[in-house]
Amino acid sequence: MKSIWTELPRPILALAPMEAVTDVVFRHVIEKAAPPDLYFTEFTNATGWAHAGDKAIGGRLVRTDDETKLIAQLWGSDPTAMAELAIHCKDLGYVGIDINMGCPDASAIKGGGGAQMIRTPEVAAEIIKAAKTSGLPVSVKTRLGYSFVDEWRGWLTHILKQNIVALTIHLRTKKEMSKVPAHHELIPDIKSLRDEIAPETLLLINGDVEDRAHAEHIANETGVDGVMIGRGIFHNPYAFEQAPRLHSRSELLRLLGLQLDLYDQYHELTKRPFDTLKRFFKIYVRDFDGASSLRDQLMHTHSTDEVRAIIDALPAE
Ligand SMILES: Cc1cc2nc3c(=O)[nH]c(=O)nc-3n(C[C@H](O)[C@H](O)[C@H](O)COP(=O)(O)O)c2cc1C
Repeated sequence: MKSIWTELPRPILALAPMEAVTDVVFRHVIEKAAPPDLYFTEFTNATGWAHAGDKAIGGRLVRTDDETKLIAQLWGSDPTAMAELAIHCKDLGYVGIDINMGCPDASAIKGGGGAQMIRTPEVAAEIIKAAKTSGLPVSVKTRLGYSFVDEWRGWLTHILKQNIVALTIHLRTKKEMSKVPAHHELIPDIKSLRDEIAPETLLLINGDVEDRAHAEHIANETGVDGVMIGRGIFHNPYAFEQAPRLHSRSELLRLLGLQLDLYDQYHELTKRPFDTLKRFFKIYVRDFDGASSLRDQLMHTHSTDEVRAIIDALPAE
């Protein structure tokens, strides 16, 4: 079987995995707005799934058959659970497994996963090995280090020696959270390390990249294989657009309408409370006259129908 990674264009532009954001609903909205080359699910805990099954992971692994460029992002420190969930992901139709080794949340750290892997490199290697038993290509997403930026060389050398298909680096330490600018100045040195240790492993960088043009600029300047964009999508749902242009209010509200329809369609599977939709209102209701008061109104709604009624009652543009 050919790996998805070899089929992607260069540079690879990926939408970053984001908890409570990059679910089946939002991925379809972005596919409609301006698609990236590659998607990742929200991170999903292997140990929780192995113990309690699908109810432990909510709708995190819900995917549709048209989602052929979707990688399951998993986390956890139990190799048996990781192997089982990775095999399950293959059965679900995922084309790759990405392992989260950078999440700074206390719950992930306590469970021995996320950024805690940086402090337990031997466990990280076991987890990669376990995920590979699925037969799917395995990639890793991590940070520069746990506490100090200069941990990057030792940590990334270790990970690059694990024969993974791709490595994405969020250019901050765990300790830095997202509070300081991403360390773009390290990209050339990290690229040299990759070239030296594992030239066949694709290198993606992540952190503070706004949109496609910005990502392509970085890739052209540094020679990395890809760039992952996370929060840029909150400021511009068309961040992956090939030929950027201004989008009208009705275009933006049509995306919101799609988000509402898909939310309803998948609700049985995802079971996400209505209020989880509210963070998305800000993505679509912006950059047009009256956006701020419309947003306020929408924040007080209680159902998708209430939102639709407000949108339908807007005066013509
Ligand atoms: C709301 C939110 C949820 C996130 N959830 C995940 C996740 O599930 N897995 C992961 O690897 N990173 C997660 N991240 C980190 C992003 O993937 C990305 O590494 C980080 O936001 C930096 O990139 P950016 O500056 O392009 O946003 C999350 C970030 C945000 C803002």
